[in-house]
Amino acid sequence: MLLRIPQALPPDELAQVRQLILQADWADGRITAGSQSSTVKKNLQLPEDLPAARQARHLVSVALARNPMFVTGALPKSVYPPLFNRYGGGADTNHFGNHIDNAVRTHAATARHVRTDISCTLFLSDPASYDGGELVVQDTYGEQRIKFEAGDLVMYPGTSVHRVEPVTRGERLACFFWIESMVRQDAQRRLLYEMDLAITALRQQALERAMREHTDAQDIESPEVVRLTGCYHNLLRMWADV
Ligand code: NI
Repeated sequence: MLLRIPQALPPDELAQVRQLILQADWADGRITAGSQSSTVKKNLQLPEDLPAARQARHLVSVALARNPMFVTGALPKSVYPPLFNRYGGGADTNHFGNHIDNAVRTHAATARHVRTDISCTLFLSDPASYDGGELVVQDTYGEQRIKFEAGDLVMYPGTSVHRVEPVTRGERLACFFWIESMVRQDAQRRLLYEMDLAITALRQQALERAMREHTDAQDIESPEVVRLTGCYHNLLRMWADV
C-alpha cells in the first residue's frame, strides 16, 4: 500500500525543521547505507547525533504520533528515529539509484532493532523549488513517481525497489525513516486501513444525522457499526504482533 499523508508536518513545524537542518553540517549519505545501496547512494545526510538532527527528529516524531492517518495506516510498533537527507549539486550528491532498504535497521545509540516493514519519506522542500528528485517506487502494477508538497509524507512497503531521480535544479530536502508495524503483512495492514476508514466515515455520518435530528449522542452508534468495529479489533488481535 502506498499512502500519502497530506501535511504530516504542519507549516510551523516544517519551517522549524528546515531552519534547524539547513544550518547544520552535512555528511556523505553512505554513513547508513548497506553494501549494495552504498554503491548507488549519492546524496548528503545529517549525522544523527548532531543537536540539530535531534531537535528536528523530535519535531517530526511528535507531529506523526498525533496524526490519526499515520497511526491507522502504519499501526506502528517501533519507528526508527527519523533521518534527514539532501539532494542537489553535482552527480556525487544529487541522486540515489535503485535499491531495497535493509530489512533490519539497528539504531546505533540504543542497539535497538527495527524491521523495516514500511519505508517513509517526508518531503521538506517546495516541489516548485527543484527539478527532478522524484521518489520512484516499483510495484507489480508499474512505477509510481512521487513528488509531494512540502510537509506531505509517503509510506510504501519496505519490500519495494525504489530510487530518487537526479535533482537537476535547486535542492531536495527530505526526512526518511522506517516503521516496524504491529501487522507485518502489507495486505493485512491495507485491509485494516480500509476498514478503519469506512467505520470512521459511518460514525461521522451517524454523528451528523444525530446533530441534525437533535438525537441524544448516546443513541447514535448503530448495532452494525458496533459489530464492524468489533470485527476490526478482532482482525487486529488475530494479526498483531506486539
Ligand atoms: Ni531507500
